[in-house]
Amino acid sequence: MCGIVGYVGDGNARDIIIDGLKRLEYRGYDSAGIALHEAAGLVVRKQKGKIKNLEDSIAGETFTSSVGIGHTRWATHGAPSETNSHPHLSESGKIAVVHNGIIENYVKLKEKLQKEHGVKFKSETDTEVIAQLIGLYYKGDLMDAVYKATAEMEGAYAIGVIAADEPDKIVAVRRDAPLIVGLGTHCNFIASDIPALLKYVRQIYLIENNETVLITKEAAKIFDSDRKEVKRDVFHVTWDADAAEKEGYDHFMLKEIHEQPKGVGETLNRRLDDDGSIKLDGITISKEELEKINKIYIVACGTAYHAGLVGKYAIEKFAKIPVEVDIASEFRYRDPFVDENTMFIAVSQSGETLDTLEALREAKRKGARILSVVNVVGSTVARESDDVFYTWAGPEIAVASTKAYTTQIMCFYLIALYMATKRGTITADYYNQIMGELKALPEKIQRILDNEKQIEELAKKQYKLSSIFYIGRGADVGVAYEGSLKLKEISYINSFAIAAGELKHGTIALIEDGTVVFALATQDRLYDKMLSNIQEVRARGAYVLGLAKENNKEIEKQASDVIFIPECADEVTPILTVIPLQIFAYYVAKFRGCDIDKPKNLAKSVTVE
Ligand code: AGP
Repeated sequence: MCGIVGYVGDGNARDIIIDGLKRLEYRGYDSAGIALHEAAGLVVRKQKGKIKNLEDSIAGETFTSSVGIGHTRWATHGAPSETNSHPHLSESGKIAVVHNGIIENYVKLKEKLQKEHGVKFKSETDTEVIAQLIGLYYKGDLMDAVYKATAEMEGAYAIGVIAADEPDKIVAVRRDAPLIVGLGTHCNFIASDIPALLKYVRQIYLIENNETVLITKEAAKIFDSDRKEVKRDVFHVTWDADAAEKEGYDHFMLKEIHEQPKGVGETLNRRLDDDGSIKLDGITISKEELEKINKIYIVACGTAYHAGLVGKYAIEKFAKIPVEVDIASEFRYRDPFVDENTMFIAVSQSGETLDTLEALREAKRKGARILSVVNVVGSTVARESDDVFYTWAGPEIAVASTKAYTTQIMCFYLIALYMATKRGTITADYYNQIMGELKALPEKIQRILDNEKQIEELAKKQYKLSSIFYIGRGADVGVAYEGSLKLKEISYINSFAIAAGELKHGTIALIEDGTVVFALATQDRLYDKMLSNIQEVRARGAYVLGLAKENNKEIEKQASDVIFIPECADEVTPILTVIPLQIFAYYVAKFRGCDIDKPKNLAKSVTVE
């Protein structure tokens, strides 16, 4: 997601817009830019990197404009660069556009503009297509040109547009991406989100889908898709700016936990063709090259490593290729067997984790094919890979990774199914069954989130605990590791994860009266064995927090408390199983008064070995 800000008024547009962009930095921060109406026409300044880079780069310039638009980018199409950052201009230089979202049919529109109108493009972005299209239709009426252009655009987007020949107005459009209007005295604003405006206004219009907005210094009007003006109640914002960045959640972590239905859904749906087949943009490996692959390493750190454990399970189950999952900091020091028939999959939210990067470089030196699963477009891991499979989780601000983990797992399901179809190791029926299960996940995640209160209550009962064990079998083992990491890194409680069947080989000696054990029992085929493991630890005085699918009620007789998740196939449970563990960790840390978004000793991206 990206951030948009626009201002029309009596004040200095450059200062006000930069201010607003800084409050939207949580929406994206790999590049930023601004377009202003100056005497010489539209002046555009943009910079790669954080908004401060932009601010510093224009500090020495004098701008008198009181009308402009600005943008902070989270790249989805086109790596972060000055050329790809917004605003984008039409060829005439008379139209400037900022954009949040994705134009699904931008390639077709770009080809039409190039072939039929000879338009020359400067960037690889879908946004420049919008600017050129509006420029094509612009005959002196900006609203008219915007309506004509957006009628051809498909996808989810919010845009802000200014025209050199109409220096007193901004036009904006909302289609499935957030857009608001800020109402001031002799000034008006557009923005992606409330935090950008709170320093100046608290009266806003919430813009609805397929509405177009025209703002000037003295007026803010909303029009529907037929260009009929619509009336809108004014919404009075009571939040403070800090709360607004978290959209009312107390912490970014909780906000990001709640963004998972959308993130998981987008990571899946944008890669499905109309016939339900998988279109893996960014994967160039050929069928022949894929057939040569006889070994896969999945290498990562922390939560990304735990996603890799689920990835192993999916790839071996669907694509029947042996997979080894390794911790990046160990991988290259054990002289692993790697050759040109090896695929190395690096997993990294930030794409900057040095342990993972150095392991990738080692595998590359030995001839492996490098595929990476990354959340930050254009990050170092992405740039050094042969193929990149992006998670579309949006910026993850909290140090504790949540939505990146579930979208990474979704990527592994897609990679595994893609490989299985190319290698002929999956029947069409089974493929369709699993694909149906994956499509149902966002709604099921939401159902678990709707049950947040129960999990909060369980956390309130347990938040004073000094240690906790997470146990599971099959696909639940990797999730147990992730649940344990979530708890320890934000609540500082000593938590430990182990395969349930391994308990009796030593660790069970630690189980005593009152020990808390989180038992994950979602695998139908291993359910009875898990019930035995629960009895094993209960017999030694443990308090067992059970987690199972909602139809498996037997666990209620064995566990002290139970959290249920919606029914689903064993293969796809991890994305659901982890949600209650994330929520549990969050509330335990909250009741303990911990600094949840910025835990002690931790960084969001560990760029040292
Ligand atoms: C996860 O909650 C932690 N923040 C940490 O383990 C993290 O997953 C690890 O440092 C890897 O980061 P990356 O995904 O950006 O490579």
